[in-house]
Amino acid sequence: MIVRSIRPEEFEEALDLLDAAFEHTPRAYFNRYFFGDPWFKPEYTRVVEEDGRLVSLVQIVRREVRVGCSTLVMGGIANVGTIPAYRGRGFSSAAMKSSVEVMAADGMHFGMLWTGINLFYERLGWATVRLTASTAKLKRRLPRFSAPYHVRAYRDDDAPAVLAIYDEFNSRRSLTTVRTLDYWRGFATSPESQSYTIWAAETGGQLAAYLAGRRYGESYGTGEMCCSRGHEDALRALAREAWAAAARAGAKKLAYVLPEEDSIRAAVSEVAVPARPWTYTNMMLRVIDLRLMFERMLPELERRSSLLERAGRVAIGTEFGELPLEVAPGRVTLPDVPADWRVELSQPQLFSLVFGLGEPADILPSGPAADLLSSIFPRQPAVYYEIDTF
Ligand SMILES: CC(C)(COP(=O)(O)OP(=O)(O)OC[C@H]1O[C@@H](n2cnc3c(N)ncnc32)[C@H](O)[C@@H]1OP(=O)(O)O)[C@@H](O)C(=O)NCCC(=O)NCCS
Repeated sequence: MIVRSIRPEEFEEALDLLDAAFEHTPRAYFNRYFFGDPWFKPEYTRVVEEDGRLVSLVQIVRREVRVGCSTLVMGGIANVGTIPAYRGRGFSSAAMKSSVEVMAADGMHFGMLWTGINLFYERLGWATVRLTASTAKLKRRLPRFSAPYHVRAYRDDDAPAVLAIYDEFNSRRSLTTVRTLDYWRGFATSPESQSYTIWAAETGGQLAAYLAGRRYGESYGTGEMCCSRGHEDALRALAREAWAAAARAGAKKLAYVLPEEDSIRAAVSEVAVPARPWTYTNMMLRVIDLRLMFERMLPELERRSSLLERAGRVAIGTEFGELPLEVAPGRVTLPDVPADWRVELSQPQLFSLVFGLGEPADILPSGPAADLLSSIFPRQPAVYYEIDTF
């Protein structure tokens, strides 16, 4: 077995491989990974060669993901596939290991993947980090509502305005992807892979908000909805149009993973009755470089520490090594001196803390270390938008 980077002349063979590995996915779905991703590099596609042909591959998509005002570099793992006749011989595991080496050599901080076969990846050091999803039952009749917004279908020339609204709405939102126009057009909304309908709300000739969704059977999945400041009612207007259209097409409920924001709650309540949220387990994360990851977060951690009244040194122990953190009002560093306290964290605990996915008191074992860490890792309205999955 040879594990190596793909060569440009092998892209078509790789597409054939993916077509054979993913039985129910059309070949064209995979084009955007080679031709539409602005951060594509041949080194990010790890192929396994056996019997003179490509038999297995794994792709890495490079993304920047926010933690407040800082960003982390993430390697997203996509298209893990082995041709059926070559399965069960360790090829995919070897390609996965090679991907982690490439991510580390490239200076990436952590890895992400989406899967239903978590055990396979757990053996390779990946951990499931639980997320919350919601559903809501569509109302049959809507109360009267009038707002000065015109709702219409999204057009390609809306892309710059949509990107500006996205950036404003998510400027410090943890776990959101930093997007560019090329990425939005070539990858995130590539028509070969994504089937979202995007709606735009405008007022006075300017875009004020947008909503992206798609129907799965009886559910209308809402991938994202964002508005500019002061235009929260545009989300309600969008909700009415988009969800009424979905209901006419047979949808009975909404399914969504959206940030906990009043504007979004109001839009959902406009058209539907929220049901109890549920936990899903399809996201797996893996530390690539613990120290680099924390170094990159220091500006955000310092911002959060400005109102602190205590100080101290905590060592965070993980399966990927130990991280010393010195926290004082307005200052956070990674010192080389011994810590006052030590706390042992599993990967799910570490990532839940970093992205603010839960209450620190529910994540950390109680004690002085927890008191200090909880002030620089508060719970946040974080979200990983479905449009950015890969
Ligand atoms: C999953 C897949 C990539 C594994 O490739 P592979 O080259 O056979 O992987 P390896 O030989 O390194 O590892 C095989 C192990 O994966 C496990 N595995 C494979 N498919 C699995 C599944 N659907 N659920 C759980 N475990 C699975 C096997 O049980 C095997 O474990 P074993 O070594 O204890 O027998 C391959 O089955 C495939 O291409 N499947 C279709 C595409 C797919 O579903 N990709 C994953 C998307 S997240």
